[in-house]
Amino acid sequence: MTRRRRTLVLGATGTVGRQVVARLLETDAEVRALARDPGTADLPDEVEVARGDLGDLGNLGDLGTLRGALDGVEAVFLLWPFATAEGVPPLLNAVAERARRVVYLSSAAVREHERRIERMIERSGLEWTVLRPHAFAANALRWAGQIRAEAVVREPYGAAAMPPLHERDLAAVAVHALLGDGHDGATYEPTGPETLTQAEQVRVIGEVTGRPVRWEEVSPGDARRRMLDLGWPPPVADGVLAAQAALVTEPRAATAAVEEITGTPARTFRTWVTDHADAFTPP
Ligand SMILES: NC(=O)c1ccc[n+]([C@@H]2O[C@H](COP(=O)([O-])OP(=O)(O)OC[C@H]3O[C@@H](n4cnc5c(N)ncnc54)[C@H](OP(=O)(O)O)[C@@H]3O)[C@@H](O)[C@H]2O)c1
Repeated sequence: MTRRRRTLVLGATGTVGRQVVARLLETDAEVRALARDPGTADLPDEVEVARGDLGDLGNLGDLGTLRGALDGVEAVFLLWPFATAEGVPPLLNAVAERARRVVYLSSAAVREHERRIERMIERSGLEWTVLRPHAFAANALRWAGQIRAEAVVREPYGAAAMPPLHERDLAAVAVHALLGDGHDGATYEPTGPETLTQAEQVRVIGEVTGRPVRWEEVSPGDARRRMLDLGWPPPVADGVLAAQAALVTEPRAATAAVEEITGTPARTFRTWVTDHADAFTPP
């Protein structure tokens, strides 16, 4: 009997992690997941789910659960859901004691905490791969409420352009790095196949759902006020708006990473919308 490779997925209930789990289950890998609430995790029956909070690794109970979940594991998909690197050292120590390989979901922005985590991983003694995706196609879900209610998106920077990445393609890249050879020490920048402005993305949503959707440009100042009213911390709101402004003057280009690593072309934004059309369709 062939030995099944054990992989632990952190963030398994999220947009990317769920797809990583699904793609792993298509292979011979045995999948474990860490979730804060296994009762609501809603993961496939084949997945062994351990309860643990990554925000509480100082708590010996959670570190103990993590160690247990790492038992016999070869590779770890590491999603770190916080905007700080604090708490990563005990996690990486536990991973390095038990596993051989880590695949870290960083970002193309390589914010300060992500840079620090990347450096810790490079020094961990583990085989490592870093994924630096740019914008997820799933970010369009933030428009879903406005589109369902009024078939309009009121936002700033309709001309901000990026190549939106289907979470399924990001997961496929992750699974190649988790299970395949030749990815040790690599940093990949997966993107979708084509650069689209935000206004163009909204148009595609209208075309796919058969109900035209309009982009209505609002000023960055109005958008900032709305974000603060919703409770966004000012530095976060300013960071998001500055990033969008930069994408107007310097659109992000698509890379060939998905096809080079998986052998399959990256899925288009139109495909992503087709896969999520229900989210944009009024009940
Ligand atoms: N959006 C983008 O365009 C973009 C681009 C590049 C990189 N990224 C990176 O992608 C990551 C987000 O991925 P995603 O969209 O898949 O995330 P997501 O859908 O928001 O899911 C977050 C996951 O983290 C888990 N989690 C949150 N707090 C936790 C805790 N205290 N302990 C254990 N697990 C916890 C959640 O589990 P439960 O809530 O079920 O416990 C969930 O599984 C971030 O690191 C972000 O920087 C995003």
